[in-house]
Amino acid sequence: MKKYFTTPIYYVNGKPHLGHAYTTILTDAFTKYYKLFGYDTKFITGVDEHGQKVYEAAVKMGMTPKEYVDGLIPAFTQLFEKCDIDYDIFYRTTNEKHYKKVQTILQGLYDKGDIYKDHYEGQYCTTCETFVTDKDLIDEKCPECGKETTLLKEENYFFNMAKYAEEYEKYINERDDFIYPKFRKNEVLGILKKGLNPLCISRKKEKMPWGIPLPFDDQFVTYVWFDALTNYTNGIGYLEDEDKFNAYWPTTTHMMAKDILLQHTIYWPTMLLAMGVELPKSMLIHGWWMGEGGKKMSKSLGNVIDPTELIDTYGSSSFRFYVLREMSLGHDGVFTKEFFINRHNTELANDFGNLLNRASHMIAKNFESKIPECNKKTEFCGPFINEFNDLMKTVEPLIYDFELNKALDNIMRMIRNTNKYMEDTAPWKLIKEDKELCGSVLYNALESVRITSLLLSPVIPKKFEEIKDIFKGDLDMTLEYGKLEPGKKINKAVSLFPKIDKEKEEKKEPVKVVDDNLIGIEDFGKVEIKTGKIIKSDNVEGSDRLLLTEVDLGNGDIRQIVAGIAKFYHPEDILNKHILVASNLKPVTIMGFESQGMLLSVKSGKNLRLVEVDPELSLGKKLV
Ligand code: MSP
Repeated sequence: MKKYFTTPIYYVNGKPHLGHAYTTILTDAFTKYYKLFGYDTKFITGVDEHGQKVYEAAVKMGMTPKEYVDGLIPAFTQLFEKCDIDYDIFYRTTNEKHYKKVQTILQGLYDKGDIYKDHYEGQYCTTCETFVTDKDLIDEKCPECGKETTLLKEENYFFNMAKYAEEYEKYINERDDFIYPKFRKNEVLGILKKGLNPLCISRKKEKMPWGIPLPFDDQFVTYVWFDALTNYTNGIGYLEDEDKFNAYWPTTTHMMAKDILLQHTIYWPTMLLAMGVELPKSMLIHGWWMGEGGKKMSKSLGNVIDPTELIDTYGSSSFRFYVLREMSLGHDGVFTKEFFINRHNTELANDFGNLLNRASHMIAKNFESKIPECNKKTEFCGPFINEFNDLMKTVEPLIYDFELNKALDNIMRMIRNTNKYMEDTAPWKLIKEDKELCGSVLYNALESVRITSLLLSPVIPKKFEEIKDIFKGDLDMTLEYGKLEPGKKINKAVSLFPKIDKEKEEKKEPVKVVDDNLIGIEDFGKVEIKTGKIIKSDNVEGSDRLLLTEVDLGNGDIRQIVAGIAKFYHPEDILNKHILVASNLKPVTIMGFESQGMLLSVKSGKNLRLVEVDPELSLGKKLV
């Protein structure tokens, strides 16, 4: 039995945040559940490296796009490692195979007539990398991120999605297990009913060179979605390893948040039908984590939570437990530190921690740390064991139905009920009256520890490794009652989930919202900005965007700087200008020229101006 899970590939235009961590943790947890239930799984995540946003961010930093994205990859892989995420494939859209496969796919669709050239005029949102129709604009701005859009008028290539709409609609209508949560199915059918416009799939290379060139017209690059979505097939052997692809692809579940529902439930399936590839098995569309002010957490809004600090302070398992338990799949969730501490203290420290301690400590104290026999029964044992067997039967189908919340409800209830079972049977009293009966109760309690731990292991993988120590590393992974072997030695549980002192935490600086746009003075202090004078300025051959300049920073320090200002200045316009230069940036090579700094400028609407300073100021003076 095979299963293939995917996450969106994330834009590399800043550090990842809670939202990115969440989808990846969610997908990781589902992959781990499937593994637990005996599946051979593959899990792909990665990054979406092309597009206008990345291009602009790189230019702003005075880097080439590739240098820029390379520099950001560790932020993603390190965060995923911190979150105990075990992906099989980390996909980068700048990898060479991807490049070729995207071109093969495009050529195939072009040859079939599904891709054709036409005129396009419309609003484009660079932040969301999406064309916005006039009726969707809110106050002339993008409805998604609220930023200004730009009018694009150009010839472009289009994909005829409508050709596959009917076939796709039939596919959805015939299935109840394709779109989760189920209420999203009508939304998708609603979009199809309105009719599908041709999808613009290209950008003029001269305007946005950072993309994969169309194989049939190298004046164009493919627009991000056509490039990005194919990571899912390309990463699992498409056009490369047929056996692998055929084995895993039909089992695919795509996970994402609702912001990219349209691209996944409309663009992608019609693309796949055009490619002649089977549609994925299912899609899970979850809600958003909301940040301060009840707005979607997003880099563009600058209200993101950095999970790193929470994980460093409280551990990855508590963090994963919180995000997976708190967010009701399909709906939005609000992240607060208070809720986080409450979840940890009640369910992990009190309920689960207590159970681990009680059962293992009583066995250590009264049974020489050996698992007792289970030969006798109290009146509570029968119903307890039945409930326990029911739990094992219910969790697996709930997971297949993406009902993670219900599955966790059931597991946590079982943990509470085991604590209640201990209170009802009172083994601390039984030990004086009937040691064999006491041993039987403790056997059942420890079996509950084993099974509830196993069922929680996909959510709290790191703690699960520590729980295994109770069983001296030898924990039977079978989800069946009665697998503990009497006579085997165990260890006493150490405090696995220490309680968080709420009052002490409240006194600390709030950590929950980290504004991506704010930096400390120590970071600012690292940037050296100096006065300079432009003494040479030329066009860069082959680029309508760059000027090659030489800047005098005084004391014989002459810098060659490549500046992205050619659309705003002729070379001679800037000669002898006194300007500001970021002078301690690592040199980068742009179009073959080393750039040894950055000219400071300000962009206002469609205009850009260099920051000029009083020529009276000496050259090479630092900004303080
Ligand atoms: N690059 C595209 C996806 C291409 S997939 C072929 C993209 N990237 S993104 O960086 O913007 O990531 C969007 C995804 O990140 C969401 O669909 C979701 O999985 C996750 N999240 C980002 N912010 C989120 C929240 N505030 N809350 C929950 N998840 C969110 O779109």
